[in-house]
Amino acid sequence: MDEHLANLRVQIQKLSNKAESNGTPLSWFEELYENANRESEKIPWARMEPHPKMVEWIKNHPEISGKALVVGCGLGDDAEWLGNSGFEVTAFDVSKSSIDWCRERFPNSPVNYCVEDLLSPPKNWLNSFDLIVEIHILQAIPEKIRDLAAETLPSLLNSNGHLLCIGRLFNSTIEEEIGPPWPLKRVWLEEKFQELNLINFTLFTTEETNINGDFPIVPRFIAAWN
Ligand SMILES: C[S@@+](CC[C@H](N)C(=O)[O-])C[C@H]1O[C@@H](n2cnc3c(N)ncnc32)[C@H](O)[C@@H]1O
Repeated sequence: MDEHLANLRVQIQKLSNKAESNGTPLSWFEELYENANRESEKIPWARMEPHPKMVEWIKNHPEISGKALVVGCGLGDDAEWLGNSGFEVTAFDVSKSSIDWCRERFPNSPVNYCVEDLLSPPKNWLNSFDLIVEIHILQAIPEKIRDLAAETLPSLLNSNGHLLCIGRLFNSTIEEEIGPPWPLKRVWLEEKFQELNLINFTLFTTEETNINGDFPIVPRFIAAWN
């Protein structure tokens, strides 16, 4: 891990610990985005391009179309790619600064950006989406509230909808680092989405996809359910 990323990682751990002890475990995201002052180098996960594994997966599934929901959209690159690929996209984040930043970056965007919390999504999103994209969100949410966040996702899919998740996979042979992020267990993912059908679970490493570092090198997964 390069020095810049190592410093960012220590910084987000401190922010996250402070937020958790204040009883507002997700508030550090807003603090990080706001303090970044539109400098994307200060956002450790900012790729400034869509996740290559998401792009590959969507291109391999041309039968999926319609309404897409991008959870925790960050700086918006995944949402923009989906929007420009024909999906009708809603993209949300719990951080207002991240959503303002997306709107500034993409002023003519087809994407509907909004500030929402996965823990209490709008009622009219229930059973609505053909595709939900979750990239590095559940692993960034503390364990105490992660179950609730995960359990919400299937309820937002329509009867034929697909859920696509990308993240770090827990591996008992690798020494655990202090989170966030907290790698996810496959068994936990399968349990949370057991009402859906698992159609794909593939491992990869960041060496294949790493653009700007993003805390290499741990096993990653891309998984899909419908
Ligand atoms: C690790 S970042 C990943 C961002 C983006 N998906 C990416 O891959 O670049 C996690 C994002 O999820 C957002 N987030 C965390 N908890 C959330 C929640 N409960 N509801 C909505 N967004 C959330 C954060 O503000 C942050 O933008």
